[in-house]
Amino acid sequence: APTRKFFVGGNWKLNGDKKSLGELIHTLNSGKINADTDVVCGAPTIYLDFVRSKLDSKMGVAAQNCYKVAKGAFTGEVSPAMIKDCGVSWVILGHSERRHVFGESDELIGQKVAHALQEGLGVIACIGEKLDEREAGITEKVVFEQTKAIADNVKDWSKVVLAYEPVWAIGTGKTASPQQAQEVHEKLRQWLKTHVSEEVGGAVRIIYGGSVTAATCKELASKPDVDGFLVGGASLKPEFIDIINAFQ
Ligand code: G3P
Repeated sequence: APTRKFFVGGNWKLNGDKKSLGELIHTLNSGKINADTDVVCGAPTIYLDFVRSKLDSKMGVAAQNCYKVAKGAFTGEVSPAMIKDCGVSWVILGHSERRHVFGESDELIGQKVAHALQEGLGVIACIGEKLDEREAGITEKVVFEQTKAIADNVKDWSKVVLAYEPVWAIGTGKTASPQQAQEVHEKLRQWLKTHVSEEVGGAVRIIYGGSVTAATCKELASKPDVDGFLVGGASLKPEFIDIINAFQ
């Protein structure tokens, strides 16, 4: 990733409370963090304001989801405008748990991406194949389709980070091997070069997610098309700092 700024996101998912997140934030704020890496913490919606007020401003905060319109009769939803109003500038969209637990379609994810970008949020857009899809040899087909549904809704790629998260690696302790990650990242970059532009393909950060730990991050980070990570479980622990500093 020599020309692209390394990007490490933490996805805290549905975890933590003010006490434990306050402690984690204290650890992150006092840790030594490589200034050449973008760091963004994905907090539960209800704690966005709290996290933004406590986390050092050198680190970004992300919502884990948002809706596709600014306001209206949509009980339980939050808009990018509200996220921004809390001083938060990123949102994670298309996470596999949104797709597979909550049934979000490529179409809905595309609409959310378009609206979030219009409102000025940065988007961490997630894609990834399930185990049966990998075993059936259709990994590329699946991730290209998901990427197309996102790409069709992006005008300004400078605000987008693409997160490749193979579903079989999420929360399973089964990290993709550095070779497996590199192979898909390289193909995704090629897809972007062909279907968006040579320039965008060269510039977009493609980060890997799925059981990344302090033990697995360095070798993954050494791969040319792995520009960072989206970290779940390990982002709730002090080892998140080691993962942030994987690329020096
Ligand atoms: O978004 C990050 C995530 O899905 C990976 O989770 O717990 O396998 O690191 P985990």
